[in-house]
Amino acid sequence: MNNYNNINVYKKDFYFHIEINRPKQLNALNQDTIKEIGSCLNAFEKNNKGYFGIIISGSGEKSFVAGADITEFTLVNKKNSKKFCQKGHELYNKIENMSVPVIALVNGYALGGGCELAMACHLRIATKNATFSQPEVNLGLIPGYGGTQRLIQIIGKTKGLELMLSAEMISSSIALDLGLVNYVLEDKKQAMDKVLELINIFKRKSPIAIKNVIKSVNSFYDNDVNGFDKEIELFSECCDTNDFKEGALAFIEKRCPNFKGD
Ligand code: COA
Repeated sequence: MNNYNNINVYKKDFYFHIEINRPKQLNALNQDTIKEIGSCLNAFEKNNKGYFGIIISGSGEKSFVAGADITEFTLVNKKNSKKFCQKGHELYNKIENMSVPVIALVNGYALGGGCELAMACHLRIATKNATFSQPEVNLGLIPGYGGTQRLIQIIGKTKGLELMLSAEMISSSIALDLGLVNYVLEDKKQAMDKVLELINIFKRKSPIAIKNVIKSVNSFYDNDVNGFDKEIELFSECCDTNDFKEGALAFIEKRCPNFKGD
């Protein structure tokens, strides 16, 4: 299944895999790629039954995503810059609000918009050769795809500010120490095995409960919503599902639950 020019989309048995495929540009994100990822995710949400995770990775061994495509920066000016930013925000917010866990498989460079893309995903599994940076100050910019917010949310203000002010490139082991990534594996194959192990775990849970955990956690960062109230609402929503009945019954009957996502 692939009607795209800049991404490969693999629809597997129980998960989706989106591979950004611009290896000559180190998978830098141009506007077309952003559009393609967005439409692929929209298509997924329309027909997501039986899928328990989405993987986002970069093609090749050298780079996850080396940032926004800098060659397109020459087209950005005061007039269109907000729209430019918003397009990235729209996509990354969509990723963050997907109904199934989205996992970034990060090998090589995750710079600028690449680091921001990984941060918009729910989990980040890195390889030993992964490097992370928000280098925008080198270009006279600030992170513009949510980085100033998500880096602080994920690793805190102390180190987050240092990284954004210095544009320092950090290794995956430092990223692990900072809590920027969930795991670091030897190479891409092992990282993929870890990603699939996680999706296999999610597969055995109630899809509605998984979706509502994501929603409830995201509400922590939504200024217009009281996260505790949201949690009560989503908990109550779960109580009205067959999955909840099945989960409780399976426990009592000492067997594995057979969740149907309804
Ligand atoms: N946008 C567009 N093209 C990019 C790119 C980006 N963000 N990052 C790398 N490329 C291109 C390079 O221009 C080069 O193209 P060319 O072969 O046509 O000259 C190709 O990818 C390979 O990159 P190169 O710089 O030759 O590789 P390297 O191993 O020497 O360095 C990096 C790798 C990632 C350190 C370096 O490319 C870099 O600093 N990129 C920009 C990172 C950045 O600032 N990202 C944030 C943008 S907001």
